[in-house]
Parts: sequence; C-alpha cells; structure tokens
Amino acid sequence: MDTRPRARRPLVAALLAGCLGLIAAPALADGPIVIKFSHVVAANTPKGRAADRFKQLAEERTKGRVRVEVYPNSTLYKDKEELEALQLGSVQMLAPSLAKFGPLGVKQFEIFDVPYMFPNAEFLERIEDGPIGRKLMAALEPKGITGLAFWDNGFKVFSANKPINVPADLKGVKMRIQSSKVLEAEMRALDAIPQVMAFGDVYQGLQTGVVDGTENPWSNMYTQKMHEVQKYAVDTYHGYLGYAVIVNTKFWQGLPADIRTILEGAMKDATAYDHEIARKDNDEAMDAIAKSGRTTIIHLTPAQRAVWEQALAPVRKEVAGRVGSDVIDEIVKEQASIAKH
Ligand code: LMR
Repeated sequence: MDTRPRARRPLVAALLAGCLGLIAAPALADGPIVIKFSHVVAANTPKGRAADRFKQLAEERTKGRVRVEVYPNSTLYKDKEELEALQLGSVQMLAPSLAKFGPLGVKQFEIFDVPYMFPNAEFLERIEDGPIGRKLMAALEPKGITGLAFWDNGFKVFSANKPINVPADLKGVKMRIQSSKVLEAEMRALDAIPQVMAFGDVYQGLQTGVVDGTENPWSNMYTQKMHEVQKYAVDTYHGYLGYAVIVNTKFWQGLPADIRTILEGAMKDATAYDHEIARKDNDEAMDAIAKSGRTTIIHLTPAQRAVWEQALAPVRKEVAGRVGSDVIDEIVKEQASIAKH
C-alpha cells in the first residue's frame, strides 16, 4: 500500500514520466504544430514530389512535433486564393510559380518569365542562390512572407490545337497564361491573345474552347492531362517555370527555434531533391505524351528555335522597366562571364 501523502504522488509520477521522456515538449501540449502546405499541381510533378519529401523529412526529424499536411492539385486553394490564404494564416506554406508574385506587388519576380533569358537550370540556380535571388526573397518580407527556397520545374513549351512550327502560327490564338505581365507581353509579341486563368481551370478551359492553347513544362502538361485536349506541342523551351517556397512570416518566427532549424534543414534537402528530379520528370512526361499519341510533338532544330528567339527578343526591352533593367544587365553580365571561363 502506498503510504506517501496523497498530494505528493502526482509530482513523483510527473518526475518519473519526465525521466522516461513521457512529458510532452511545450509544442506538443496542444498537439503537433501543423503546417498546411497548399499547391496547385499534381503530386507526381517536381513540386508535388518535393513537397511530399519535405513533409516526410520534417515529420521524421521533428519526431512528430510537426505535422505537414500537403494539399495538391488546387484541392484547398487556387492560384490567387492561396496567396491570400497564406497572408491571412489559413495556410502556412506554399510554392507558387515565380510568375504569380506580380499581383502581390512584387513584380520583380517576373524576371524569370522573360523569354530566352536563362540558358539552363544550372545557370538559374546560380542566379537564385546569388544576390539577385536574395534580393527577391527580401522583397517578400514587407508582405508578411518569408522565402525559404527556390524550386525548379523546367522550361516551357507552347501547345495548341493547330500545328505550331513558326511564331506566326500563334497569331490570333487564345493562349492561357499565368498572371504575369511579362507573359502577357510575350504572347502579344507573337500576336497571340493572352488570357489569364488559374492553373486549376486550364484543362476545362482547353476542353471547352475558352482558350485554344497554353504554355507549360511537359510535367504539368502531362499530369493535368492537357495532352488529351491539345493536338500539337512545340519544344520551344522559350521560358522558365520555377517556384519560390514561402511561409507566413509570423508563423515562421513564432516557431520554437530548434524546430525552425530542423525545418530549414528539411527544406534544404527537399530542395536538393527537387533539383535532382526536375529534369528527369519533364523528360519522362514528354515521352509519355509522345507515347499517348494524343499530342503531336514538334521538335525544333537549333536554327528553327532561333526564329522563336528572334520573335520574342523585343520582350526583354519592353518589360525592362517592370522587372528592372539593372537586374537584366546583371544576368546578361553573369552569363557573359561564364561563357568566358
Ligand atoms: C501554371 O499556372 O501554369 C503553373 O504555375 C502551375 C505550377 O504551379 O506549376
């Protein structure tokens, strides 16, 4: 029989539980910290897979103190709503494409939409990891948003229901674009008719003829089944599609410091994973589209691609005021210095 005074027993039990590691850490008092991570693409895309990898690493390494709920395919929010939801704190993490920051007032991000500005993913990573990338992320802070990483998808192709061999083939074609003024200028340079539409509405928009064509990397085209409603695609690789992984600053700063450090590590590794898989995912998606027989893929020779480059060249000058001519100059200089070495 326990003869100790009754009042002492809970304390002893608590101490014992503490020694056994049974007492919850402060963060666990009300259950785990939940990070809702909303995005608009399919789970089997570079962004979808990197988001799932972040979830796995974050949950493993925090030993359950953090739970990451990933909502793919616009199941929670579409493009514009997700940014509002992040600012309101309804979700904590997003990875919008770099073309979608204009409506937030951070139009400098549209530099990534300038046609034929970036020769390859390696060069992009250099820019993103350097002073330009850091400056862009810093521009998010006044909006209550913290940028954690840049993720890759790939280079875009044009698609439509008519053969597209040369720029003039897009004349008068209604083309869906993301909410970027640079992409609007790009379509106008081709005499196409740009129409902004949320990513989650594109399949239906193409199916019903609200728009006739679009642009995206192969991975998005395939996983959204756009190839079922587009007869032709041309491998112009005229522009880049990448992402900024962002969090609500208040939420991020409110995390226990040790948790934040673990999450930063998980994000670093998820980012490396994204960079590793992006190219292959797009190559595989292109093969799958070709194999489906639904979309005819037009492969350009370098000389044919140069014709597209020439048609889109005026865009750079036209949008310099919007994205910053100093940034354009810096990128051009960086490219020239690499070419020299
Ligand atoms: C689009 O809207 O076309 C893309 O930004 C979708 C995405 O997130 O890859």
